[in-house]
Parts: sequence; structure tokens; C-alpha cells
Amino acid sequence: MLSYLRHASRGIAPTVLVLTSLAAQHDGGAVDFNRDVRPLLSDRCFKCHGFDEAARKAGLRLDVREGQLAAIRGRRPVVPGDPDASELIARIESPDPKRRMPPPSSGLSLDPSEKALLRRWIEQGAPDPSEPRDRSRDHLTSIEGGHDRDDEVRLAFERGMESAGFSRAELEAARRMWRDFTARRAVRTHKPAVLAAAVEYAVALVHKRQGSTQATIARRYGVNPNSLSQRYSELREVLDLRPSDPRYCSAR
Ligand code: HEC
Repeated sequence: MLSYLRHASRGIAPTVLVLTSLAAQHDGGAVDFNRDVRPLLSDRCFKCHGFDEAARKAGLRLDVREGQLAAIRGRRPVVPGDPDASELIARIESPDPKRRMPPPSSGLSLDPSEKALLRRWIEQGAPDPSEPRDRSRDHLTSIEGGHDRDDEVRLAFERGMESAGFSRAELEAARRMWRDFTARRAVRTHKPAVLAAAVEYAVALVHKRQGSTQATIARRYGVNPNSLSQRYSELREVLDLRPSDPRYCSAR
């Protein structure tokens, strides 16, 4: 709570900006979609996987979010938070020239640091701020106290839970849980991803879902597991959550 208050104070905003941009320059720092990722995809992939339907190969469209996420023969190009499950990564890192993307015959290629960047982008949840209303990575907007943060959290967990294979009932439970929580407590956050991960974790526990651990969920959302615990405890406390809670399990 204390650290949250510190971040929420306006005086600290310039410091946060400096730290954020410094971090981005180092390996492991936050990847900026518009600055780093989109130009790369556009330059090396869109020729065959872009807007032009006539030139499109394998029915794969990487210039829009739905295309990045939609499975082709059971494999998704991008699985947010999980590069090893992402066909895009398998293809760009493939040692087999017949599978590698971009195809060597196109004369296009990616160097190791560009491949690493795409991997890191997916690791960090593959954020794409060109999506409507997804400003989850725009720390400053959030700190300044914009609106729609509620929606950002909802969109983030819906997307995350969908890609993790949660059922419709579980997703609906998450929406209900989030609605109940925000109705009881004014939510202020500069990191929607942390709250979104906490909601998914809460649903996983209430539904006793196997294999959804705090660490794996935190990793998929690209957040620190410790920050997740704090938010999860708040949810649990406000809603008095228990396993098999009928409010959030009855939709099954
Ligand atoms: C010159 C054209 C061309 C370019 C450029 C290109 N691809 Fe491809 N891509 C293809 C073709 C053709 C296929 C289908 C044949 C195959 O599966 O290997 C394909 C298939 C794929 C698939 C597999 C789709 C499936 O069936 O699951 C992925 C993923 C992919 N490309 C990603 C990329 C990425 C990422 C880039 C940029 C880094 C890229 N491609 C650049 C032509 C291209």
C-alpha cells in the first residue's frame, strides 16, 4: 500500500518516466510496441502477413491483434506471456530453413537481437497499444489519473484468461468478481496488469483450477509475483473470497 501511494503521488511522475525509459534501453527492459516491435514486423513480415489479402501467406495476418492471436491448425502465432508456445517464435528461431521466417528466399532476415526483442515482447504479455483502449503500458497516463482504468483491467484479464484457456464460465466469474470489487472499493492503479493478474489468480483459486499458480500467472502478465500477492489479498479481503464461492462458481 505504501509503495502504491508513493507511485500515485504526482511529484514522483518524472522519476518514473526516467526509470521507465532507462529500463527500456537494456535487455529485459520494457519493450515498446510502437517504437520497437511494430516497425520490425512491418519491415520483415507484413509483405506476406499483412493487410494485403492477395499477398497474404498461410492465411496469417500479423498486422492486427486478432491475427496475432488466432490459431492456425491448433498453433497460435502469439501466446501472450508464453514465447515457447508461440508459433511466431518457433518460426523465427527455427534452425530449419524450410520453416524459418522470414523465408531465407525472400532475402529478409532477423538478427539475434531482433529475435530476442520479439521473444521479450511476447514474454511481457505481447502488449499492443494500438488495440482500442489498451493503455495498460502507458504508465504516465495511468499515474496522471485518466479514466477507463477499470476497462483496462477488464480487457487485460479477459485477454489473458482467454489465451490461458479459461472457460466461458470462469471468464464470466472474473467479470462478476471485478464488478463486485470495484463497486465496493474505489480502484486506483497505475499498473492494470497487476490487478488483471490478481483477478485471474482469484478466479483460479475459487474454481480450484489446476496448474494456475501465482508465479505462472504473474509471468504471463509480465508482473512481479509480489505485487500480485498484495492485490490478490485486497480482492480476497474485500470480497471475502473462498474456494468454490457460490457467487463466482454458480455459472458453471
Ligand atoms: C516472403 C514471404 C514471407 C515473409 C516475409 C514472412 N513469411 Fe511467414 N510464411 C510465409 C509462407 C509462404 C508461409 C506458409 C508456409 C510455411 O508454413 O512455412 C508462412 C508461414 C508463417 C507462419 C506459420 C503459420 C501457420 O501455418 O501456423 C508463421 C507463424 C509466420 N509465417 C510468421 C512470420 C513472421 C513472424 C515473419 C516476419 C518475421 C514472416 N512470417 C515473414 C511467407 C512469409
